[in-house]
Amino acid sequence: MANNDFNNKIPPLLTATGIAKSFGGIKAVNNADIEVNKGSITGLIGPNGAGKTTFFNLLSNFIRPDRGTVVFDGEQIQQLQTYQIAQQGMVRTFQVARTLSRLSVMENMLLAAQKQTGENFWQVWLQRKLVATEERELRDRAIALLECVGLAHMANEYAGALSGGQRKLLEMARALMTNPKLILLDEPAAGVNPTLINQICDRIKLWNSEGMTFLIIEHNMDVIMSLCDRVWVLAEGQNLAVGTPAEIQTNSQVLEAYLGQ
Ligand SMILES: Nc1ncnc2c1ncn2[C@@H]1O[C@H](COP(=O)(O)OP(=O)(O)OP(=O)(O)O)[C@@H](O)[C@H]1O
Ligand SMILES: [Mg+2]
Repeated sequence: MANNDFNNKIPPLLTATGIAKSFGGIKAVNNADIEVNKGSITGLIGPNGAGKTTFFNLLSNFIRPDRGTVVFDGEQIQQLQTYQIAQQGMVRTFQVARTLSRLSVMENMLLAAQKQTGENFWQVWLQRKLVATEERELRDRAIALLECVGLAHMANEYAGALSGGQRKLLEMARALMTNPKLILLDEPAAGVNPTLINQICDRIKLWNSEGMTFLIIEHNMDVIMSLCDRVWVLAEGQNLAVGTPAEIQTNSQVLEAYLGQ
């Protein structure tokens, strides 16, 4: 009979330890840690300039850390390129959405899909049927995701025609095209109207119930409270606290850090 006390400990999907990055004299991230459990919705909060976005950049190797270790799904990933990390199943969105304005919304979605058979000339030639099926499947997936974020009716519009909030939604849907294991969202609710914020939260809960894990930076505390299992607080590049949303909300050090900004 297995002893549950010993066997229940599932390793986190993402563990970052001792991460540091300075820009000139500014210690943007200063020996910070984070853990994201598989199947969780984990929050990362902190005052403006706390180092949250930089931390995301370091986790996904968009910027190389000065120090620290990142283990994702059992593997050290800090030697990998950002695209290789994405292929391993960890993708992120940006605080300021990075959609391609001169492509349509649908083209933005299709570009995000990886390992398409159609990318190889000979395979295209030999396996037209397979390619057609794959493309149809990708389009179906793209439409389903666009429907989820309320953008299906704009599939053929230039992405440049979208509002800031809609671009954020497109970016989130695009990240999901690759069916990642972990998705890092940098302020998904910023610049998005309240009705859409509720819709985004519902979608995140749905995708989470289907097995996707989230790490979310957000200033909107209602969003953090309604979504997160666990919240990490960063202040001046360092870990200030970690706990449930309710614990964090009443933590006096956290309140001080926010009031002092
Ligand atoms: N490329 C850079 N060069 C120089 N300084 C930088 C760079 N990127 C970030 N910083 C600085 O690092 C610190 C952390 O910035 P960061 O953007 O990570 O904070 P944040 O927690 O995401 O803030 P916000 O909530 O406002 O988005 C800030 O002092 C910022 O000015
Ligand atoms: Mg930021």
